[in-house]
Amino acid sequence: MNVWAACFIEYNSEDELRELLLSGKILPGSWLHIGGGSNLLFTKNYEGTILHSGIKGCELLSETDEAVEVRVGAGERWDDFVKYTVANGWYGAENLSLIPGEVGASAVQNIGAYGVEVKDLIASVEAINVADGMFRRFTNEECRYAYRDSIFKKELKGQYIITHVTYRLGKKAVFRLNYGNVRSELERNACAVTLDNVRRVIVRIRKEKLPDPAEKGNAGSFFMNPFIPKEQFETLKQSYPDLPFFPADNGKVKVPAGWLIEKCGWKGRSMGRVSVYDKQALVIVNDGNATGDEVVRLADAVIASVYEKFGIAIFPEVNYV
Ligand code: EPU
Repeated sequence: MNVWAACFIEYNSEDELRELLLSGKILPGSWLHIGGGSNLLFTKNYEGTILHSGIKGCELLSETDEAVEVRVGAGERWDDFVKYTVANGWYGAENLSLIPGEVGASAVQNIGAYGVEVKDLIASVEAINVADGMFRRFTNEECRYAYRDSIFKKELKGQYIITHVTYRLGKKAVFRLNYGNVRSELERNACAVTLDNVRRVIVRIRKEKLPDPAEKGNAGSFFMNPFIPKEQFETLKQSYPDLPFFPADNGKVKVPAGWLIEKCGWKGRSMGRVSVYDKQALVIVNDGNATGDEVVRLADAVIASVYEKFGIAIFPEVNYV
């Protein structure tokens, strides 16, 4: 179902953004900055102002035999940037092919796929302080990256607007092919391991498993994969020996929410005009004209079943507005 915003403003430069913030037109608490909007679920009309970055451009800052540093405008489409890195023979971003959204959001959300997180590539992030228009550059460490998390979602939420991200990419061939079926897909198609082919295979895997948001409303993974204590994992593993897992820090284990949801019988199931996607249970799809509230109702039902069956709390990756 369509929802409306009272006002939408796109700015095209850092100066325009600063001017806007200092103009008094944007009141605290009455604005929302979006990227591509691919991780947002609107449950009602938005009465404030939606801000969007139109800052474009991709500038080569430095180059050695080993690596390049590239500064990219927050409003660039993420996958256009990945395509550009592959065309230039720069390594690092190819596993993140076809992720929807924009460059600015990549640095807020720490997007990740197929064994790579964007934090592995980010050198620094430039941002403007909403309160006084001052510029600040964040080093990678200062961004406090974690799984789908950063300082921009926590302590500094709503306080800074990202204008540019500088990525560091390699010039020497290093591939990460050990996640899921990436390597076996390359082998099955007798493809040489090149940047182009890795991108092609990742795009194909994603298209097979994930619905295209342009065709069917969805936000990719609706939930984050939960981290559970090792002891709880060992107990579960006895009942479910096929439970997939990824070792994590601090005595925790990451388990796939998609697997838990499928085991609860949700894969392919609908509730009214909303369904759990039949090829990937981590995705919720709008089958047509469903409201945001209907999506939330299905998500809540899924969360409740996973907790009831496994005693594991799962949380949305999607932000509700
Ligand atoms: N699985 C099932 N049933 C399902 C879905 C998954 O049993 O319906 C199992 C798979 O068999 C596999 C494991 O769960 O053993 C992991 O599945 P998959 O590789 O599809 O990845 P995921 O954990 O479901 C995460 C990211 C995706 C990313 C993929 C690939 C999150 C929340 N999601 O999904 O990111 O593309 O890994 O790296 O971490 C996104 O964030 O929007 C997104 C699509």
